[in-house]
Amino acid sequence: MYATAQPHDPITEVFPDVFLLRGSMHMGRGMRISRNMTLLRHAGELTAINAVRLSHAGEEQLERLGKLNHLIRLGNFHGLDDRYYVDRYGARFWSQAGSRHYSDPPPDVLLEPGVSLPLPDVDLFLFELTRRPECALLVNRNDGILITCDSVQHWGDHRYCSPLVRVMMPFIGFRSATLIGPLWLKYMTPKEGSLEADFQRLLELRFAHLVNAHGSLLRDTAHAATTAAVKRAFR
Ligand SMILES: [Fe+2]
Repeated sequence: MYATAQPHDPITEVFPDVFLLRGSMHMGRGMRISRNMTLLRHAGELTAINAVRLSHAGEEQLERLGKLNHLIRLGNFHGLDDRYYVDRYGARFWSQAGSRHYSDPPPDVLLEPGVSLPLPDVDLFLFELTRRPECALLVNRNDGILITCDSVQHWGDHRYCSPLVRVMMPFIGFRSATLIGPLWLKYMTPKEGSLEADFQRLLELRFAHLVNAHGSLLRDTAHAATTAAVKRAFR
């Protein structure tokens, strides 16, 4: 019923009460890609973002960090392990309406304008022009930490990407370290439309760091790198 846990690193605290889990996803023969989960802690409660199932040892580590009470889906395509987390931890599930790539579990709370998140210093950013739901979170601490799913990605290294994937990546649009997910952009852009206005709105946010669902953490230079990525994507 549930997807099995796939290889991953230990959970790392990358900023105070912000934890990154670098893991992976098997995509087919010889194809493994990086896939990350972020955890935010507030008052002893954990919120998981872009869920990635953990090994037994990984779950023990997570449980030492706090009680996992909330699960947030940011991206339409990252829901493989959501049902597992809801069942395993009784987490409250937050998702946008119409996130149907993984229709189970249904959201307990809809991520929509004005929603009150379970974290006091976090804002929700909703893409408005995409063909399927996508959003991001802005943690208003440490000069701003942007948490994305597939929209903005940073590939500072290719940990957990199989050799075949590494060879393929430049040919399918992964040509720079910080980028707008090329396959995601193609799929999410409406016919004869553009997502540029959404990304210009995203750039109005104040953030220095990027934590995303693929690749690696980008510290300090995330706003400039995202600005350059947007320019490249829409030139
Ligand atoms: Fe993805």
